[in-house]
Amino acid sequence: MDRLSVPSEAAAWSAAQRRQGGRVGFVPTMGALHAGHLALVAEARRQCDRVAASIFVNPLQFNNPEDLARYPRQPEADARLLEEAGCDMLFQPDAEGLYHGTSPLRYELHGLDLHWEGPSRPGHFQGVVNVVERLFHYVRPDRAFFGEKDRQQLTIIRHVANTLHWPTVIVPCPTLRETDGLAMSSRNQRLGPADRARAPLLYRALQAVADLAFHHSVEEARQAGLDVLAGDPEIQLDHLGIAHPDTLVPLTHWDGLDRAVALIAAQVGPVRLIDNLDLRRG
Ligand code: PAF
Repeated sequence: MDRLSVPSEAAAWSAAQRRQGGRVGFVPTMGALHAGHLALVAEARRQCDRVAASIFVNPLQFNNPEDLARYPRQPEADARLLEEAGCDMLFQPDAEGLYHGTSPLRYELHGLDLHWEGPSRPGHFQGVVNVVERLFHYVRPDRAFFGEKDRQQLTIIRHVANTLHWPTVIVPCPTLRETDGLAMSSRNQRLGPADRARAPLLYRALQAVADLAFHHSVEEARQAGLDVLAGDPEIQLDHLGIAHPDTLVPLTHWDGLDRAVALIAAQVGPVRLIDNLDLRRG
């Protein structure tokens, strides 16, 4: 696996793959890799000839400096995991190299950041889109792979990629879960034993919503999720709601839809966890 930190070298690597006719798949990450990331690499390998990954803890997307400082970092272990997973190139830029001292751009998100994570994390999605654009600019992937766990991030990146005609195809990949249902996340490593034990309640709340979805009212389905969480007062809920599957606009009625999505975020001990679940009529 090639390990590159200079953006122009990553661009040259990618250009060389394309000259040889290879399709480049890309998995952008912030490191602290888990099986969910490795599943993205595996999917990229299935769909592409060459796979690049990046590790860059992007300061622009952290609105809380403590969260940035505490974000887990394990670059050598991550590099080994990526190599074993069959990654061909690891891009590890620093902030100076990636942004060159330029000011962040302001992207039109058409209201996709107005709900859910948006109000709690001002500027977060602008930071995500800025870094993804910079990474794509250098890596020039044919396809880029993103986990559905970060549903709003995925929706926003797809939207920007479509509206700005980015040449990269955005490929969504299913959330990987621990055996007790907790969605895999780099942040899970910061949960102590008691918080780790209560964290799967988020998924159980989503499942309770799914059980009633489309058979009861939106509010009744949502209340079923809230009832699950009420069992543990240590979980500080930020939001639990039901949204349109494509626009993520909050729903108050099922509006004849066949699909929707339930989204949740909560503070569990020192960690803010997010998750979501597709709801289907049937
Ligand atoms: O999902 C993440 O890990 C990050 O938000 C991403 C897409 C790598 C951008 O920093």
